[in-house]
Amino acid sequence: MSYDNRLLLDVLDGKSVSRPPIWVMRQAGRILPGYRKIRASVPSFKHLVKRPDLISTVTIEPIEVLGVDAAILFSDILVIPEAMGVDYEIVEKKGPVFDHPIVTPSDIDKVTFGSDVLESLSYVFDSIKLTKEKISGRTPLIGFAGAPWTLFAYMIEGSGSKTFAKARRFLYEHPEASHDLMDKITQSIIAYAQEKVRCGCDVIQLFDSWAGMLTVDQYNEFCIPYIKKILDALEGTPRIFFPKGAWSVMPHFKGLSFEAISIDWKTPIDYVRGHLGADQIIQGNLDPAMLYAPMDKIDHAVANKIKEVGGNHIFNLGHGVYPDTDAHHVKRMIDAVKAYQY
Ligand code: CP3
Repeated sequence: MSYDNRLLLDVLDGKSVSRPPIWVMRQAGRILPGYRKIRASVPSFKHLVKRPDLISTVTIEPIEVLGVDAAILFSDILVIPEAMGVDYEIVEKKGPVFDHPIVTPSDIDKVTFGSDVLESLSYVFDSIKLTKEKISGRTPLIGFAGAPWTLFAYMIEGSGSKTFAKARRFLYEHPEASHDLMDKITQSIIAYAQEKVRCGCDVIQLFDSWAGMLTVDQYNEFCIPYIKKILDALEGTPRIFFPKGAWSVMPHFKGLSFEAISIDWKTPIDYVRGHLGADQIIQGNLDPAMLYAPMDKIDHAVANKIKEVGGNHIFNLGHGVYPDTDAHHVKRMIDAVKAYQY
């Protein structure tokens, strides 16, 4: 497929470019006025997530208003737990809440998994097709999924948490059942992500938002083998892996197949390239809190980050944009990246 703007795909393809492409994690929700208006017009977040017409509008708004180089499909990682039968609600000021989280190993026997989850996710696939139509080749479309441990953490904990102690306790008390659940989540993610690609997503990002919660041994035992299966199953589609806070397991990512690694703001670039290779494509790393700085400081921070990464770079923040960030500051960052020439 031909695109007006191929910058992201070119970098992921190892081609040399005149400046880094930029998109912003959580660009499609949170900060833009169009999103807020649409969000206020529906009774809940989940109503929005199931409306392809509204999703396509919210997904495209950042291309039109902010001028980013890629769209990310408006959705959530938690649609997979829901499709597996572990349902959630997003509660104002609290975040995700699950009425019936997984409590005992026998709860895992009841979950739906693998390609059986696809039927109830048809609203995502319809959203992709409609969004692709409406983007009409302006930029690529990024699809995403949560990594197995991050979804496992929500399914067991039943909500967000500072410690995810229930989920971590489950790994110690029920290691076999934990592997069973990781495997079922993995099979679901593979079916889902492959279908997203079939429907038109050009890139897949895997979010392991709570990767930093586990010991190195646990990450090796309960996460890496499943992440490997997912990434291998997506061979042929550009893959971005975002293991937030997992710098301690960086050496163990060498055997994984991904085009780009997305890193938080605390992980040094040299450290990543030292472990993964001098030409590893790096996404992210700019502190999201930097966007609270005055406008002219943003220009300097952007130029410094581009110089520091020095090529093979997808410009982005180290995590999603914070909800109270001024959209003008986000735009300033984007304009500064677009004005840069290597
Ligand atoms: O990047 C984008 O703009 C696309 C949309 C997107 C959302 N969630 C929309 C959303 C993406 C990529 C996600 C991923 C997601 N969801 C992650 C991984 C990324 C990360 O931030 O670590 C996680 C952990 C979740 C789980 C989740 N969903 C939480 C913790 C919350 C509550 C609060 C919040 O804003 O993060 C949600 C709800 C949610 N997902 C909202 C949005 C815009 C806010 C709900 C609302 O507007 O009512």
